[in-house]
Amino acid sequence: VQTAVIVVAAGSGTRLGRPERKAFAPLAGRPMLAHALDGIFALTEPVQLIVVAPDAELESARAIVAASAGPAVGYTSVVAGGASRQLSVAAGLAAVAPGVGIVLVHDAARALTPTAQFEAVIAAVRATRSGVIPALPVVDTIKRVDQGGAVRETVDRSELVAVQTPQGFVRAELDEAYADPAADFTDDAALLASFGHSVGTVAGDERAFKITTPWDLARAERLLAEAAP
Ligand code: CTP
Ligand code: MG
Repeated sequence: VQTAVIVVAAGSGTRLGRPERKAFAPLAGRPMLAHALDGIFALTEPVQLIVVAPDAELESARAIVAASAGPAVGYTSVVAGGASRQLSVAAGLAAVAPGVGIVLVHDAARALTPTAQFEAVIAAVRATRSGVIPALPVVDTIKRVDQGGAVRETVDRSELVAVQTPQGFVRAELDEAYADPAADFTDDAALLASFGHSVGTVAGDERAFKITTPWDLARAERLLAEAAP
């Protein structure tokens, strides 16, 4: 396969406040991770799938993968994550097969991400040979405030976007960035940019929102209920 998709699912889900680790919390009766994999197994292009799960959930992650595996996925593996998202991505990256040239990194928490978003990112990385991330315009007015909450200024919204996943990269560039142990960034695109690699954007999709709070989970439940036949 030419493309690998790393799904990071090793977070704890503190803000969701469920007893289960977030990716294993039920969403419309199935684990969030199972929904996240739906969009990937629907890809027509075969990809290597790497699920990064908490140490204690490796068996259940394997069961979820086995239950949802479709013909599009040529090769899957489940590996243990780390204490931060970045360490979990690094664990996933270590499992990428030889010969893979494009690596996508995706949050399991963006469980309703449409297949088309994966396809758009893969196509754009292939066309530009650079990093590509899905982005949406920022709709709220954004203010810069001081530590006490007093408004300092309004930030120009026209030059801001909110970014989602999957974030797609040329494998060699991602490997290079992750080989630096000092690198510490909130997302992989920022990491790549710090190495001087350019990162472009494609249009994101509102359905790729990240399930972070109980309100987000309820929203995902409603969207799935509306989509049900
Ligand atoms: N993630 C991970 N390993 C970590 C931390 C996060 O694989 N050590 C993954 C999460 O599973 C999630 C994605 O990174 O799919 C985005 O992280 P976030 O939404 O912050 O999830 P959690 O860290 O689980 O949630 P919280 O921050 O509320 O604890
Ligand atoms: Mg987190």
